[in-house]
Amino acid sequence: MRFNSVFVAVSILLVTPRVLAVPALKSIQTYNGETSGKYIVELKPSVSRAEWIRKLKLSDSDTIEWDVINGFAAHLSEAALNDLRASDDVLNIAEDGFPVASGSSISTEPNDVHASIDLIRTGVPTYASGTPGPGIVTQTNAPWGLSRITQRQKLNTSNAEPLNFKYTYDNSAAGEGVDVFLLDSGVWGQHLDFESRSRFGANTHDPGFGGSYGYFSGGTHVGGVVGGRRLGVAKKVTLITVNVFSMNREGTVREGSLVNIISGFDFVFKNATARGRPAVAHLQSMRGKAQGFAASIPLDNAAANLVAKGIHVVIGSGDEGVDLSKSESPSPARVPTVITVGATDINDARAGFSNHGPLIDIFAPGDLIWTANNPSWDRYEDPSYPQWGTSMASAHVAGAIAYLISKDGNISPAAMQQKLKDLSVKNVISGLPAGTANNLLQLGSA
Ligand SMILES: *[C@@H]1O[C@H](CO)[C@@H](O)[C@H](O)[C@H]1NC(C)=O
Ligand SMILES: *[C@@H]1O[C@H](CO)[C@@H](O)[C@H](O)[C@H]1NC(C)=O
Repeated sequence: MRFNSVFVAVSILLVTPRVLAVPALKSIQTYNGETSGKYIVELKPSVSRAEWIRKLKLSDSDTIEWDVINGFAAHLSEAALNDLRASDDVLNIAEDGFPVASGSSISTEPNDVHASIDLIRTGVPTYASGTPGPGIVTQTNAPWGLSRITQRQKLNTSNAEPLNFKYTYDNSAAGEGVDVFLLDSGVWGQHLDFESRSRFGANTHDPGFGGSYGYFSGGTHVGGVVGGRRLGVAKKVTLITVNVFSMNREGTVREGSLVNIISGFDFVFKNATARGRPAVAHLQSMRGKAQGFAASIPLDNAAANLVAKGIHVVIGSGDEGVDLSKSESPSPARVPTVITVGATDINDARAGFSNHGPLIDIFAPGDLIWTANNPSWDRYEDPSYPQWGTSMASAHVAGAIAYLISKDGNISPAAMQQKLKDLSVKNVISGLPAGTANNLLQLGSA
């Protein structure tokens, strides 16, 4: 669509000769990929959103409003867009579009139909002490990632396959009392590794479709690493599903759009405030569809505002193997107050797919990670299957934050980011370009 700024400028000059300067129309941030047809409008914090919605005569059914940014999304006529573009009330206007959750593949059936599958292969955690009591315990059948984040030395094996690593942690903490919101493709909450700690929060791309845990398994993978009883870091955490990717009821819309992700942040903002518990928000990393998408300023602002409210926001650095500043999807990973995580393998090398660069805060295990799976996702119907991706790395960090909060108390997101860097092992990761902080996640002494 082209906007008729020439016409506006000329008519102002002809009709109102006393106007000296023509107000510059704000540009619209375009989306490089498939768009939804809606626009995202962010207003200055002090401006009345309701007044603008009334003035533009937007319909309730088409308009989505947010508090996490003072903004809304709707289909907008050219006249409405020009009003907004000319107004000082407006911070930015952006096209809405559809990114793809990184590494997701699409299955053809909803997960719920497989709810009765045998989960025996995931197994139960075993402990050196038999039954784990309060205090320091050692799990003896953990995936390698849990072992690596609790010992400062490199692991003495290159074999990431066996589930026989030791994980020593404080079982009196373990993330208890902390909510981790999983902004993802839904979590298959019936998986036994989640015990009864997985809750449905919201489905922002299809409100009202509350029963669906989604068609992708990304959320289940992340949830398993954050808080699975056998496979996870914080084994007593509460997981809250915020489904921002996946399909709608008719199976026609296959991904969430930027609007859905901002709505996810908005849900976290409201829900965490209402619950009054320490909260961590983990967003699955994304890539643009086909051509990729440019940075999204309103998405960045939504994440930054969530952090400003005291919620710890964590995201993978992306799986393109490039400097994050050159990523097709740098938002919101590039926001300085968001904790941005790169991936390593069992040999402490940067995983080849992991983005890098000065925008990344910390690295964590992200290659060949055994975690919970959706039964419908792969042809093996194996509910546990090793995964890779920077979202596996950021899941370790989200679990670590929940663990540290339950052990040492909650602190500001800025202090938490610093604490993670202070606890990390320095300069052990190979394959990092100059300028990338060489920090490998550690939980610290249990
Ligand atoms: C590797 O380390 C583990 C403890 O982390 C130890 O039990 C095992 O014996 C070690 N194996 C070798 C070959 O050193
Ligand atoms: C927050 O989410 C939980 C689900 O985990 C739900 O039970 C509760 O009603 C929500 N509260 C608000 C205020 O949205």
